[in-house]
Order: sequence, then structure tokens, then C-alpha cells
Amino acid sequence: MQARQHRVVVTRHGGPEVLAFVEEDLPQPGPGEARVRVFAAGVSGYDLMFRRSGRLPGTPRVPFTLGTDVVGVVDSLGARASTIAPGDVVAGWTVALGTRGGYAEYVCLPEGDLVPVPAGVDPAEAVCVVINYLTAHAMMHQAAKVRAGERVLVHGAAGGVGSALLQLGRLADLELFGTASGANRDVVSQLGATPIDYRTEDFVARVRGLTGDGVDVVFDPVGGGRQLWRSYRALRAGGRLVWFGVAATRDHGLRIIPPTLLARTALSLIPDGKHTPSTPDLTKLGNAWYRATLAELLDLIAAGEITPLVAGRIPLAEAARAHELLERGGHAGKFVLVTDPPSP
Ligand SMILES: NC(=O)c1ccc[n+]([C@@H]2O[C@H](COP(=O)([O-])OP(=O)(O)OC[C@H]3O[C@@H](n4cnc5c(N)ncnc54)[C@H](OP(=O)(O)O)[C@@H]3O)[C@@H](O)[C@H]2O)c1
Repeated sequence: MQARQHRVVVTRHGGPEVLAFVEEDLPQPGPGEARVRVFAAGVSGYDLMFRRSGRLPGTPRVPFTLGTDVVGVVDSLGARASTIAPGDVVAGWTVALGTRGGYAEYVCLPEGDLVPVPAGVDPAEAVCVVINYLTAHAMMHQAAKVRAGERVLVHGAAGGVGSALLQLGRLADLELFGTASGANRDVVSQLGATPIDYRTEDFVARVRGLTGDGVDVVFDPVGGGRQLWRSYRALRAGGRLVWFGVAATRDHGLRIIPPTLLARTALSLIPDGKHTPSTPDLTKLGNAWYRATLAELLDLIAAGEITPLVAGRIPLAEAARAHELLERGGHAGKFVLVTDPPSP
């Protein structure tokens, strides 16, 4: 009998209830691919946007499977795949599948997109670094080009990417400030940043009160027109605003995207010495950057230098519950879908 697997499918656009857990034949690896038995698959804010509506550019046609990042064990190789072997534990993104496909028990990916996970590293922690820490690393070192000692404000500081920015920021010797809702105040403090409650405090006034003249860099994955203007005002002379996300769609929907883009353009035209550097598209930084940076991040976990925050480990079959929890907010870190370990 043909071996079978389970996969989570977006059957139509809508609420978490549109996620179906389906059974199907095992996928077969093509030339240069490896089939990975998935242990952990990341859940992200983009997944929610793609699930809710087909209006966001890049949303696949239904039915499709979400999931941008996986960790698992190689169980089969396609023709000409030679750099990894069955039994290797690997991490990788699903860009080759159009940045989706990870919510499954098995997924076939190009071997060049799979990076070995050091022994002893928890798959749920490892999967957190694939997109979130790669994003944080690129925004910090390629867009902002931070220097030791700089003052940095991170929005969404308890979120998946925000907590990654704080952990990498501590390693880069930055002075850190982080906005989050009040429930995440202690999380932000424990990550080495001064917490600011964005729901009850004016972050511009608070940053100016704490620093005198503002911060050198603001990382803004939240978006919204007013938010970007205020982030810009929190900068000192010569500062950089790095905008790279729209987490505010959680509360305000896709309608916040046009004013965000307008504000970003308007701010880039102000000749006051502050900058709004363009942000890199991770998929265009090249495979050498991807492999080297992902390996560096996995080594940092193994060495205990970073500890990604896992907001919850939820069985793959309960992906809808993971989406409900992510939509509700107030969590810290990234939700991870986990599968049953294969029987010996
Ligand atoms: N460009 C890229 O390569 C790239 C890659 C990955 C992600 N992103 C972007 O980054 C965003 C964040 O991703 P994530 O995985 O870190 O999401 P996440 O884990 O859901 O974190 C988002 C954080 O934003 C905070 N937040 C939500 N609405 C807010 C608002 N109106 N004002 C201030 N803070 C608000 C939340 O704080 P509380 O829960 O404490 O309220 C939450 O901690 C995504 O939405 C996506 O747009 C971009």
C-alpha cells in the first residue's frame, strides 16, 4: 500500500475553521530534492493574512498549504541529491514552494535549502530561527547596519521577529528599548530591553524621556501610517527607521497597508538627515548568505547564546487552534506546529 501523510490545507479564505487536516499520498522528492519528515513547522503573521483573504499580493490560489519554515529529518533523497543523507536533521525555508507548504508531515525541498541542525538542539527552537531570526539578522546587519553601543527601539518586541531582534541586539552590544503590550513587559525586560507598553504609553515621549534626543535605529514590523510617523519622530539626528512588516493588520486589517506605504515614501523624502533604508528581500540575498547565516544562528542556539521563545507547541492537526491563539495576541515568541515522532 502507498504510504500516506497528513497536511493542513486552506480550503477557502476565512477564519481558522477553513484549515482542513487532510490525508494523502506521500510526496516524492524530485531531482536535487530531499523529503523531510517534519518535526516542527513555524506559524507566522503572514500565514494569517494569506488564510484570511486572497487580496494580499503573493497569496496562492486555494487550496494551498501554509508554512514558511520547517525542521525535520531527511527520510528520502531524489535523484542527484548528494550533500545530505537520510537521517540528517535539517532546518529550512519553503521558498522553493512559493513560501508555503510547511504545515505537513512530509515536505520535499531542494537540498541546498536545508541546513544541518546541531545535535541536541530542540526542533521547535530551531524552527524559530529560520524566518524570524534570518529576518532580524538581515534588518539589523544589512538594512540598519547597527554599530555597538547604538540605541535601538524594537516594536513588537515580544513577537517572533521582535524577540529575535532583542536577542541578536544584545549580542551586538546595543542599548535596547522594546514596545509590547503590558502582559509582555517582563519578557521584554528579560531579553535585556527597557519595556514600553504601546497600549498605555506614548512611546515617542517615553523614548525621548529615557534618552534625551531619541534612538539611532527603530525597527518597525507593526506598520500603520501614524505608527511610522511616530517611529520616525523617536529617531535622533542621523537615525534610521527600518520598516519591514504589518503586524498591525491583526487589529486593523489590510486597510492599514496603503497608508503605511504612503508614510514610508513621504518620510524618505524629508531632507533632515534621518534615513529610511530599504529592506532586503531575504530570497534575493543568495543561497550562500542563507546557508551561512542560518548555520550561524543554529550554532548560537547550540552554544546557548540565543534561546528562541516558543509561544506554544501545538499538534499539526490543531493548526486552527494555533491560528486562533496567534490572532488573539498577548503571547511571546512564535507558535510552532509539532508532529508525533515517527515510530521506531
Ligand atoms: N519582511 C520580512 O522579511 C518579514 C519576515 C517576517 C515577518 N515580517 C513582518 O513582521 C511582522 C511581525 O511578525 P512576527 O512573526 O514577529 O509576528 P508576531 O509574533 O505576531 O508579533 C507581532 C507583535 O506586534 C505587536 N503588535 C501587534 N499589533 C500592534 C500594534 N497595533 N501596535 C504595536 N504593536 C503591535 C504584538 O504585540 P503584543 O502581542 O504584545 O500586543 C506582537 O508581539 C509580520 O506581521 C510581518 O509583516 C516581515
